[in-house]
Amino acid sequence: MWLLTLTQLTIFTTTLALKAGGNSTTPITKLTIDTRTRYQTIVGFGISQAFQRARQVHGNTSALSSANSQRVIDLLFSQEHGAGLTILRNGIGSSPSYALDWMKSIEPASPGSPNATPVYEWDGDDAGQVWLTKEAMKRGVAAIYADAWSVPGYMKSNGQDSNGGYICGVSGTSCASGDWRQAYANYLVQYLRFYKEREGVAVKYLGFLNEPDLNQTYASMQSSGFQAADFLKVLRSTLSASNFSDVQIVCCEATGWSDSEDLLAELKSVAGAEDMMDVFSAHGYSSHPALPLNTTKPVWQTEWADLDGRWNTAWDNLGKEGEGISWANKIQQGLTLSNMSAFFYWIGAEQAPTNSALINLQNDTISVSTRLWAFAQFSRFVKPGAVRVEAKSDVGYVRVSAFENSDGKIAIEVINNGHTDVQVEVELWGVSGLRESATPWLTNNQNDLKMLASIPTVGDHDRVVFKASVMERSMVSFVL
Ligand SMILES: *[C@@H]1O[C@H](CO)[C@@H](O)[C@H](O)[C@H]1NC(C)=O
Ligand SMILES: *[C@@H]1O[C@H](CO)[C@@H](O)[C@H](O)[C@H]1NC(C)=O
Ligand SMILES: *[C@@H]1O[C@H](CO)[C@@H](O)[C@H](O)[C@H]1NC(C)=O
Ligand SMILES: *[C@@H]1O[C@H](CO)[C@@H](O)[C@H](O)[C@H]1NC(C)=O
Ligand SMILES: *[C@@H]1O[C@H](CO)[C@@H](O)[C@H](O)[C@H]1NC(C)=O
Ligand SMILES: *[C@@H]1O[C@H](CO)[C@@H](O)[C@H](O)[C@H]1NC(C)=O
Ligand SMILES: *[C@@H]1O[C@H](CO)[C@@H](O)[C@H](O)[C@H]1NC(C)=O
Repeated sequence: MWLLTLTQLTIFTTTLALKAGGNSTTPITKLTIDTRTRYQTIVGFGISQAFQRARQVHGNTSALSSANSQRVIDLLFSQEHGAGLTILRNGIGSSPSYALDWMKSIEPASPGSPNATPVYEWDGDDAGQVWLTKEAMKRGVAAIYADAWSVPGYMKSNGQDSNGGYICGVSGTSCASGDWRQAYANYLVQYLRFYKEREGVAVKYLGFLNEPDLNQTYASMQSSGFQAADFLKVLRSTLSASNFSDVQIVCCEATGWSDSEDLLAELKSVAGAEDMMDVFSAHGYSSHPALPLNTTKPVWQTEWADLDGRWNTAWDNLGKEGEGISWANKIQQGLTLSNMSAFFYWIGAEQAPTNSALINLQNDTISVSTRLWAFAQFSRFVKPGAVRVEAKSDVGYVRVSAFENSDGKIAIEVINNGHTDVQVEVELWGVSGLRESATPWLTNNQNDLKMLASIPTVGDHDRVVFKASVMERSMVSFVL
């Protein structure tokens, strides 16, 4: 229905142009970019290989040859041959073992009480995530985000790391074993230490919750915003006291945008709590992002995927949720409407018949979805530190966003959701330095991030103009 309306709209505007000007060429869509009006700073785009998915790429559950295992890592993280993703979200374990796809805890057994000396262990593998982290870093990933789905069961109100429950010691809990908040903060610091001291990896971002509005049969832990604040103050002071004050705290990973609004309001009602976190995170599942969240902290969308569909590599076929163009629009709208500084898909690559990853693995065969190329359209050209700038389109179905990178490069991201090609005239204000040409990169049903011939520009240092064609149902990044 929606697509039909767009087509009708296009026909309507074309007809108008014909009547008004007697000119048979396609009407021009004006895209106006102004780098003098600046918005949020971008941290990046990412995925996770938690729940032992890293081992499916390289490890004892992988069926990939080493060449294909490297190819998967390149597809995800390479700046030359892949999506050039810039953040990796690792899972911090809470389970007693590696049974099923569990993430094993670094302190599998209870020391007996919150103040007893913990017995930590490090296997140097972390379910393949140590290898993955190093491979990602070789390709330029600097931001490692480690996130815990739960505390170990003995620190939680229900005595197990699955089936919901709360951190013992936060408001509303009264565990016979006592208050485990400090023990949990020490536990997270020990995880950072293992990565730093044993593996030489500085984890930059740390999270202690995942979907705290849900009680799930796998590692899960509930929390209100008030309870998150109860733990945040312990974690903040523990990080400072342990020489990890440069590690940024990410909170709170609720399942959707509305749940996040509620949780954030609760958290903000506790004096000082908002400033104890560095990033506010939310998932896209249960209610989709459409507005900014009311916080002065950067907002990340840290997990979202098409969970309904079977594996789907199409860019634009039946208008299904899992198709590439749908994700290009989700990223575009997330950045422009919801003020996001980072956008993650759930899994990078896995052996599963579903759409919850960007890459599907079957034996030694790799299948790449166009969702990956939707991410690439952004992540290859909008690098960490880039600032979103004002970008306007005078046609609703031609969506645009624009970014100024810290090296001065401008990325203009255009999605033509219409069913006819459009001619765009791009007017770029306020750039410094000469911009003699714009290089377009195209993804559509026939092309995966294909570099096209450069387009010459006209104008001076303050105002640069170029014209280009953007094919129907395609995304083009113009880089200049
Ligand atoms: C038709 O449109 C083109 C492209 O904008 C323009 O160059 C040309 O001058 C127009 N012709 C008339 C008759 O308006
Ligand atoms: C893979 O290795 C880990 C230990 O490193 C072990 O716990 C796990 O059971 C192994 N999985 C399989 C499928 O062999
Ligand atoms: C989580 O859900 C399970 C299954 O419905 C239930 O048995 C359990 O009590 C719930 N846990 C908590 C802490 O509410
Ligand atoms: C604290 O961290 C800094 C930077 O990571 C390091 O140079 C320093 O040696 C650390 N100090 C202690 C006491 O661990
Ligand atoms: C946003 O939060 C501030 C407090 O931080 C509050 O004063 C303001 O009313 C909130 N705005 C909305 C639209 O809820
Ligand atoms: C957007 O996010 C930035 C932090 O990244 C914040 O400073 C700014 O206030 C936010 N703007 C809106 C409209 O929410
Ligand atoms: C994968 O390998 C298994 C066993 O080696 C085989 O039965 C199966 O058909 C293979 N699947 C594909 C898609 O090749």
